[in-house]
Amino acid sequence: MKRFLVFVAVVLLFLPYSSARERMLFNEGWSFKKEDPLSIQKDNRLDYEKIKKWILPSGNRFLKNAPLYAQPQEKLNGGEYTEISFDDSSWRVLNLPHDWGIEGPFVQDLPGETAKLEWFGVAWYRKQFEVSSEDVNKQFFLEIDGAMSYSTVWCNGELVGGWPYGYASYQVDLTPYIKAGEKNQLAIRLDNPNISSRWYPGGGIYRNVWLTKTNPIHIDQWGTFVTTPQVSAEKAEVHVAVSLANAEKDHAQVVLRSTLYLQDKEGNIEGDALVSTEQKVCACSSKTVSQVLSLEQPKLWDVEHPDMYVVKTEVLNNEEVLDTYLTPFGIRTIEFTAEDGFHLNGRRVQLKGVCMHHDHGALGAAFHTRAMERQIEILKEMGVNAIRTSHNLPAQEMLDLCDRMGILVLDEFVDTWVMPKKENGYSKLFVDWNEQDLRAFIHRDRNHPSIIAWSIGNEVGEQHNEQGIVIGKWLSTVVREEDSTRPTTIGNDNPQAGFNGFERVADVFGYNYKPHFYAKFKEENPEIPLYGSETASCISTRGEYLFPVDNDKSGGKIGFYMSSYDLFAPGWACPPDTEFEGQDRVKASAGEFVWTGFDYLGEPTPFTADMTVLSNYHSDEERAQAEKDLKEAGKLTVPSRSSYFGIVDLAGFKKDRFYIYQAHWRPELPMAHILPHWNWADRKGEITPIHVYTSGDEAELFLNGKSLGRKSKGEYEYRLRWDDVVYEPGEVKVIAYKNGKEWAEDVVKTTGNATQLKLEADRQAMKADGSDLIFITVDICDKEGLMHPKASNKIEFEVKGAAEIVATDNGDQTSHASFLNPYINAFNGKALVILRSVKGKSGNIILKAKSKGLRGSQIKLKSTEL
Ligand code: GAL
Repeated sequence: MKRFLVFVAVVLLFLPYSSARERMLFNEGWSFKKEDPLSIQKDNRLDYEKIKKWILPSGNRFLKNAPLYAQPQEKLNGGEYTEISFDDSSWRVLNLPHDWGIEGPFVQDLPGETAKLEWFGVAWYRKQFEVSSEDVNKQFFLEIDGAMSYSTVWCNGELVGGWPYGYASYQVDLTPYIKAGEKNQLAIRLDNPNISSRWYPGGGIYRNVWLTKTNPIHIDQWGTFVTTPQVSAEKAEVHVAVSLANAEKDHAQVVLRSTLYLQDKEGNIEGDALVSTEQKVCACSSKTVSQVLSLEQPKLWDVEHPDMYVVKTEVLNNEEVLDTYLTPFGIRTIEFTAEDGFHLNGRRVQLKGVCMHHDHGALGAAFHTRAMERQIEILKEMGVNAIRTSHNLPAQEMLDLCDRMGILVLDEFVDTWVMPKKENGYSKLFVDWNEQDLRAFIHRDRNHPSIIAWSIGNEVGEQHNEQGIVIGKWLSTVVREEDSTRPTTIGNDNPQAGFNGFERVADVFGYNYKPHFYAKFKEENPEIPLYGSETASCISTRGEYLFPVDNDKSGGKIGFYMSSYDLFAPGWACPPDTEFEGQDRVKASAGEFVWTGFDYLGEPTPFTADMTVLSNYHSDEERAQAEKDLKEAGKLTVPSRSSYFGIVDLAGFKKDRFYIYQAHWRPELPMAHILPHWNWADRKGEITPIHVYTSGDEAELFLNGKSLGRKSKGEYEYRLRWDDVVYEPGEVKVIAYKNGKEWAEDVVKTTGNATQLKLEADRQAMKADGSDLIFITVDICDKEGLMHPKASNKIEFEVKGAAEIVATDNGDQTSHASFLNPYINAFNGKALVILRSVKGKSGNIILKAKSKGLRGSQIKLKSTEL
């Protein structure tokens, strides 16, 4: 049955027969097998020397025109799994994107730093597909957007190629191995080494896979580069460089035509052709052709009006269309100035940015466009206009979203160069792969108007040595060869990196956690543009508060939770207010990228360095000693498995901190926010400080109708504090003022007991494409409908109709409950359930939620036809 379904899907796709490019999402119906888990106690060193032979692209270290995909160095027998005759009927069948790690379970004895999940190990994916005999002269390419990691591809038993860096996208040319008119077998092996990441990387083919069919004469993968060297309100000059490939021996005369269109909000061509140009060219074996178009009164891409265009490039032989390639792009000017920060279309734009890791919380590393879109929507509500893709290439769909939603992007390459941060991390690959990875990265991403700089690294160990200067300059040179329209940048945590020569390796200098160095940097480097590449790193748990409120940033621990007064941070970091002051004092800084927008899986600082976890010890001797010591001491276990850095928690619920950023970044939005909650039955008569975040400049606080005084923000003050409030249950109300006028208010009330569930969906309908999502928030409420801030009741879900439950979450950084469960305990009053559509099944969806002793609730949603 399984094979029949796969066969049908493929045949449908390739009909009706068309002579131009066909690109098909190749995510469905893969057979999957994970090899036995590697022993976590065993020293699991990566055999890179062996892997090198399989997929090293070239012996030449800094090869300039390296091919964009790897070729095997030798024929390698991958074993029976690669053969068409192998019977994989006992393997699990699944759809991509897939992350085996998120399926769990959480294992206490795995490091919290990588989420206590088993994302490492060896796994295989197999898929069969039919190729029509009519396609005997076609080219076939398999595009893999992201496979974690060291992926190697076989087709019909023969090794095709692969790519080691798990965040890279690449394609392999299947053409020589394809059998037209027959069934073809793909096999992909992943070998994801342990001790290779500082956060949760995931494991699996976690981004999309595509099968592309072209004519022998076609446009290369990522084979167009659109630039706009002249832009004014009246006119834009659009340059289109096209890389044309001809797989046949004979040269051919073809016509290359490029036509401009507007793009609509869904990413489709909108309206009639705006302008077009064509020329006759010879399609030699490989060739780049440049075309210039002139566009009157261009709509500029901007954070507020992200207007997009599309270039449609066609390769024509007489009237026959040999290939069609669409390149979305935007017309805008960008400049990082040394004196005055970042300029977009000639006006200064403060970068109100966040760093984001690639996971989607309960969905793990598996990329879901809607999950990403939801994250961006929440961030935009806070005032975010920029994202740094820390510390690696994002999914391409994430960049499409940023283009369409008006988000500026610092596109980041790697976390490490030669000096390792983790034994099996990118440093293993850097020497052999940096150029290949970097060029491919830029080819992939260079047409996105959202990208304003290429970040060549983060906190690399080489910030203080000569080798670092050589490598940094080399990487910047490669970037400029590939794209001279954007600057390079780098994130630096070593204060000396601003003064020891390293500050010149990239065009724009980013400081991580150094607001107190901005002024000195500008004094000594007046000509170098500056910004905060990583800022704050404040840590908190939604809904947790510790008393008495400590102003020492190292305080705030409540067991394994962090107090949400937003005053606490690790030694190198600071609360949001300190960074705001740093930025406000040094206007030459272009802005900041907060660490981080959302909580992410792994790195649960301050509970990361859990030396009760034996796998944190890398030598047998150390491990044996630690085991002995721990036995003697009686083992203490640290449960934390996701970060506390997020402004928003892992489930997408806003922490208090969301509002201090909103107040600062959206000064025109009338808003006020009170913290903490007001359910403190055991604090009657005790000092319970109240902090208020508001975009106003003054506020008056009331407790049960009685004024507790009016306060105004001083210079470099970003929150209002009433530190001596004596707790009594009831109502806290704040009225904020701006320029003396009433501006906004907020009210927090002591709630009654929890009695009912309240459901709220992020949207009412999704598409029946098998990957679209609806996120439903459950609040546990009292009879008035107020969310009970301490409720932890267990909620059970049931879905009927055109959807399935894909995950549950509650934002608790210490929970070891599986994200796959259709039930969950609320955490501080809230829980989340994520529904996914079923491909081809449209119609109504009913989600029911029940909880013992509480009134249940249900919600009606829809899945709509494509
Ligand atoms: C930085 C690092 C980030 C993250 C952060 C936590 O030093 O670049 O990846 O670890 O610290 O504060």
